Amino acid sequence: MPFPDRFLWGAATSAFQIEGSPLADGAGPSIWQRFARTPGLTVGGETGDVACDHYRRMPEDVALMEALGLQAYRFSVNWGRVLPEGTGAVNGPGLDFYDRLVDALAEAGIEPMLTLYHWDLPAALDRRGGWLNRDVADWLADYARVVYDRLGDRVRHWITLNEPWVVMDGGYVRGGLAPGHRVHEEGAWAAHHLLLSHARATAALRAEGAESVGLAVNLEPKVAATDRPEDVAATARADAYMNRIFLDPVVHGRYPEALPEVFGASWPDLPLDDLDEIQTDTDFFGINYYTRAVCVDDPSDPPERARRVRQLRHLYTDMGWEVYAPAFRDLLVWVKDEYGDPAMYVTENGAAFPDPPQTIGGEVPDPMRIAYLHDHLLAVRDAIEAGADVRGYFAWSLFDNVEWSQGTTKRFGLVHVDFETLERTPKHSAAFYREVIDSNGGALDDAPRIPTTEAVTATATQTAASLQEAAESDDG
Ligand code: BGC
Repeated sequence: MPFPDRFLWGAATSAFQIEGSPLADGAGPSIWQRFARTPGLTVGGETGDVACDHYRRMPEDVALMEALGLQAYRFSVNWGRVLPEGTGAVNGPGLDFYDRLVDALAEAGIEPMLTLYHWDLPAALDRRGGWLNRDVADWLADYARVVYDRLGDRVRHWITLNEPWVVMDGGYVRGGLAPGHRVHEEGAWAAHHLLLSHARATAALRAEGAESVGLAVNLEPKVAATDRPEDVAATARADAYMNRIFLDPVVHGRYPEALPEVFGASWPDLPLDDLDEIQTDTDFFGINYYTRAVCVDDPSDPPERARRVRQLRHLYTDMGWEVYAPAFRDLLVWVKDEYGDPAMYVTENGAAFPDPPQTIGGEVPDPMRIAYLHDHLLAVRDAIEAGADVRGYFAWSLFDNVEWSQGTTKRFGLVHVDFETLERTPKHSAAFYREVIDSNGGALDDAPRIPTTEAVTATATQTAASLQEAAESDDG
């Protein structure tokens, strides 16, 4: 069975991860610009000041996208370029950059999908409380209006927020990401305000005339490692905490039942009346999928108290994430069944693998990424066959880029970036993806399933490392 006729094939990036030049042309600093410049918070002290230098190389990057055969491109707008203080005065040159990008995409015949918020809150708004201040819902809505007024005539698909769960968990609960707080109760408030912001920004965009407004969530199927009641309960907690926390309120107008128990004494007295406003018709959900989690109960790891266990015979990516494509199909079907058969775009899917650090004779062979894409795209096709309304797929990521606090050490790109010279080299996976696009998925059936020597070697190295790590953690 082929992919649907107008299935959209694209690749995704985000502003902080590729643009660099964070303060150029009057932009205000973001929480990431501040966080990354604080010693010790990012691997190798990566600041994001240069990243892929996309801010200065945008025209050639769009030409590259065209050469790769992309039909669509998902990018995010850095809020502080447009509104240096987060609210109030608009910075023309910042908005001009995205205007030129959208024009360049149109010229290349590439459909844009625009994300308003991919984690880079203006630092000025963080000083006013950031996601802990209820006013953020109006700040996001006002910002949405400004961007829509300028780009709405050319951009059809709008995403309000990227992965609100990561904003909440990484930013406020566990603190590994900006703004780096570690207060569970703040996580619950941040989640509530993220939800309200999505609702208000959606209403604002609709009022301006937008017809396709969505929310991008990262979902991770949670599977109990055993049938012990403790593990089953831990798995349900992990599921409520990560997968249902945003979708349940938006679609069903309520928080998942298990959520107050997850937060325990840190669950605040949220103004639940807001749920009427939060429950909104969303034109589509963006689904970001990387892995699943096989869980056991672990009281020492709050708030959800569920630890993931490694699957010894499975492959893991450079992020330490299990490669498991069948869960992707099931996930898409779960969203369909649980949330009223919404339109979906896969807005991120991909893998960081230890690619060769340098190009080899001008090439970057990345057989593991090809295998990952192949198997995950087949999983998407299986989900469509089972009735899931999936309308497009965006590979994460177009480029090797700044993987947040991990700096440039994790390579997710279809295109290799040499971070010394900033030279771009499409990897073998980019050529593979092009064949998939050109054949609307048909090439997935011809793809050889026999792994190459490089793939086997890399897999063996990875597997040895996982076994070693598992042995060490068992010892501990
Ligand atoms: C984010 C990206 C990130 C990717 C890999 C997602 O959580 O939206 O910004 O680079 O996953 O970690």
